[in-house]
Amino acid sequence: MKSIGVFYGSSTGNTELAAEKICEQLGQFVSHSADITKSEPEDLLGYDILLLGVSTWNIGEMQDDWDEFIPRMEGLDLTGKQVGFFGMGDAIGYSYNFLDAMGMLWDVVKGLGTPKLVGVWPNEEYTFDESLAVYDDGHFVGVGLDEDNEPDLHDERIKGWLMKIMVDCELIPAS
Ligand SMILES: Cc1cc2nc3c(=O)[nH]c(=O)nc-3n(C[C@H](O)[C@H](O)[C@H](O)COP(=O)(O)O)c2cc1C
Repeated sequence: MKSIGVFYGSSTGNTELAAEKICEQLGQFVSHSADITKSEPEDLLGYDILLLGVSTWNIGEMQDDWDEFIPRMEGLDLTGKQVGFFGMGDAIGYSYNFLDAMGMLWDVVKGLGTPKLVGVWPNEEYTFDESLAVYDDGHFVGVGLDEDNEPDLHDERIKGWLMKIMVDCELIPAS
């Protein structure tokens, strides 16, 4: 059985809450969940699947705790890991920078060896102008969550995204 580690940075608790929901839904599949302020970069090496949560702040900037953690990740080799992202943002207030930090975090992580991205998420149901989290024409690099405008969609989005993660990581067969 592959192990799953959830790591998140959260300034006002919204991404932390999403991480809790993710763990609740993963149940027995999740091995570890931690705030990155309480983690060492090497902790990421202990799991086969990494689910990384990040919010965007200050008009397209990285969440503070990740901002401090990222330089410490230098030299980490995530080759062989499968990595998924969940991002928290505000599509109305920051429509030109929606979820930017999620895209920026993948940009960092993909340079640490050759990790595989899992759980890219359709973005057609989101209303925004620009985002660094756009992966290709129809997808974000991970699931986008918007506590300010669409908190009622969290459960459904997280559930759908986790199904995709499970299929991409071959924990369950594709239907
Ligand atoms: C000053 C400020 C700047 C923000 N900048 C952005 C932004 O550029 N892009 C975005 O998608 N969300 C932005 N947000 C929204 C936050 O990402 C959102 O409130 C999120 O839920 C915070 O999650 P956290 O509590 O886990 O840090 C901003 C919020 C504030 C208050």
